[in-house]
Amino acid sequence: ATNRTFTMIKPDATQENHIGGILNMIEAGGFRIVALKKTLLTAERAGEFYAVHKERPFYGDLVKYMSSGPIVAAILEKDNAVADFRTLIGATNPTQAEEGTIRKKYAKSIEANAVHGSDSDENAQIEGNFFFGANEQF
Ligand code: CMP
Repeated sequence: ATNRTFTMIKPDATQENHIGGILNMIEAGGFRIVALKKTLLTAERAGEFYAVHKERPFYGDLVKYMSSGPIVAAILEKDNAVADFRTLIGATNPTQAEEGTIRKKYAKSIEANAVHGSDSDENAQIEGNFFFGANEQF
């Protein structure tokens, strides 16, 4: 069924002018961009977004990194969006990402890994609504 996922282009990738390249791979992968914005997260907002990882050892660094520069947030629509987008982005750790994936091409490290992708339909909805109102989704 057609459904939605949520993505962020992370600070390393926006800093290095990879927004267009990544959006191009997303559209070429068959995803429709439902909502899109460039914005800067405060540490507080980044911490809230990644609250599920609060107990993980990398949480503090992750919050610092995700608020270190602008990100691009987007809601994407496609058949089987969540799973297909995770295939398109590749493994969290770019050393394990397959050829042809966004992280293989653009990620620098396990932390600065170029893009985020939701891990479930439920989280996709929560994460999309974290950034976009109903009047910003088309
Ligand atoms: P993301 O898919 O956005 O979800 C959590 C993020 O934490 C992850 O991508 C990475 O940017 C970051 N991260 C840093 N270290 C790790 C790690 N060891 N395992 C998983 N995620 C990590």
